[in-house]
Amino acid sequence: MIEKKVVTSFFIADLDDLSSIEQSLVEKAIIALDSSYATYSGFSVGASILFDDGTTIEGSNQENVAYPSGLCAERVALFYAGSKYPNKIIKTIAVSAQSKDFDIEDYISPCGACRQVMAEYEEKQNSKIRIILHSPTGQVLISNSVEDLLPFVFKSPFLKRF
Ligand code: THU
Repeated sequence: MIEKKVVTSFFIADLDDLSSIEQSLVEKAIIALDSSYATYSGFSVGASILFDDGTTIEGSNQENVAYPSGLCAERVALFYAGSKYPNKIIKTIAVSAQSKDFDIEDYISPCGACRQVMAEYEEKQNSKIRIILHSPTGQVLISNSVEDLLPFVFKSPFLKRF
């Protein structure tokens, strides 16, 4: 048996250390919390996307009484980007969260399904997506690619027959 290790890398910074464009992107993710429909979990998530032409869009989590029918904020924003602006390049996605029941004191990390969708768009546009996770403490966790958040991602070559 051979043990192999995966090395990943991410950055922690103060929100103030980000460029003004990225600070404003995080601000948009926070504002997107207002449109969250989190009636069952009380856990609101906002996501904002920066395209390489400087424009932005936002999304928030949308829950449903049939729980699995709801969708995370990241995928709402990413699918909105993919359907409305299929030819734009996604540069950065910022995520923030808030709970009606407790204070969030750390970054919230995108779920596996959202990471898989991020990976799809990286492959589609052939360029990396920067991910900024906002913590209400005023810090941010930055990943320069979803590859760092999702090792062993399922990729399209796996579907090819040889
Ligand atoms: N949620 C997100 O929107 N994004 C994440 O990265 C994790 C979880 C949502 C799904 C659900 O509406 C609520 O947060 C609680 O899981």
